[in-house]
Order: sequence, then structure tokens, then C-alpha cells
Amino acid sequence: MTGSPRKRVAVLISGRGSNMMALVNASRAADYPAEIALVISNKLDAAGLAWAREQNLQTAAIDHKAFPSRESFDAAIDAALVAAQIDYVAQAGFMRIQTAGFVEKWAGRQINIHPSLLPLFKGLHPQRQALEAGVRVSGASVHFVTPELDSGPIIAQGVVPVVAGDTEDRLAERILAIEHRIYPAALALVVEGKAKLVGGRVSLEAPVNQRQTLVSPGGERVC
Ligand code: GAR
Repeated sequence: MTGSPRKRVAVLISGRGSNMMALVNASRAADYPAEIALVISNKLDAAGLAWAREQNLQTAAIDHKAFPSRESFDAAIDAALVAAQIDYVAQAGFMRIQTAGFVEKWAGRQINIHPSLLPLFKGLHPQRQALEAGVRVSGASVHFVTPELDSGPIIAQGVVPVVAGDTEDRLAERILAIEHRIYPAALALVVEGKAKLVGGRVSLEAPVNQRQTLVSPGGERVC
């Protein structure tokens, strides 16, 4: 193989795992700069975990309920990451709040996707929050993970319209489609060192194709 070795990425999930699947599918391209070397779920019955096993990916089921504290659960996750020689971590619908110690250890090497245009609508039910706020556009954001929930510096965003008559489910489905486009692109930027966490902001190394950091309705270039 020519070029740099592919970075080893772990994906943390709690459920369906469709973003994890998008990352795995992207990583199957010969020129993608990362391989999904480990999938970790904190839910033993997560559909995404079953899918990852069927794909013969390396998996770990680490049940948070089996641990007496957040610290001990995070230590088990960290041990699994270290044992698998993981370079970067991608949270994909991982519904656990991490300790500051874990977040700081993986700072600049851990990213998350959230189904809103951050900093709007952090936390639970962001699609419902968007509908209640009456916004005309929403979307998804990929950001570096920092100790404050859904508040880390933003790497990439995808925008979708909010349509008259939208339900939470319909909006969530439209946002999910754009999540599956921006997450593989953002992960590639991070593992290639083209999007870095520097001084609490994202430093983008030129030339970064705008399509990797902003996807707008219709997907056209906006500048
Ligand atoms: C996705 O919409 C993801 O953005 C969201 O959970 C869903 C997981 O779906 N994550 C969060 O809300 C994190 N705050 P998936 O399991 O099919 O990827």
C-alpha cells in the first residue's frame, strides 16, 4: 500500500448505528484515510452492534450498568481503545455523558455528530426543539468533543429545510440523510490532520474542499 497508513478509528454507538454504517461504508473505499477498527456499544442489544458483528468488524459490548461509576465505565472504554491501538474516536448516537478526564485524554481525537445546527438545540430531542422554535432550516453538526455537552468546536455542518407540516420523525429522517454525508467527510478531514483542534477552535488547513465542511440543501457549492 502506498501513502500513510490508515488511521484506526473506533465508533461508539448506543442504538441503530446508521451513522456508524455510513462511516464503515465510506471506509471501504481504497482511498479513505481511516479504517473502522472497533465498534463499541454500551447497549448489549443495540441493532448497530449486531450489524457490526455480521460485518466481521471488531466489536466490544461494554454495558454501562455493569460499572459503579462514570469513571470506571470510561476507564473500561479507554482500555478497549488502547488495546485496539485506536487513533481517533467517533461518537455516533452514543448516548452517554463522558467524564472530563476521558474527554481531555482524547481531546482533538474524538468527534461527535449531533442532529441540529449547533450551537442551537443541544441535548435531547433537537429535532423537536427545532420544530418548536419555528426555524426554517435545521441540519446536523460534526464537532470535536469537549467536556460541555454538544458544545465543542464545529468541523462540518449539513443544512436541510424545515418543511410545512413536518413531524419530528420526518425532520429527523431528512437530517439523518445529511448526517450520513457529512460524517464520513468530516472524519476524513480530522484523521488527515486537515481539521485540527487548536486553541479551542477548529483550524482548517487549506485547501479544504468546502463540500467537506458545508452541505447545503441540494448539495450545491455555496461559495
Ligand atoms: C443521530 O441522529 C445522531 O445525530 C444522534 O442520534 C442519532 C443516532 O442515529 N445523536 C445525538 O443526538 C447525540 N447528541 P444512528 O444510531 O442511526 O446513527
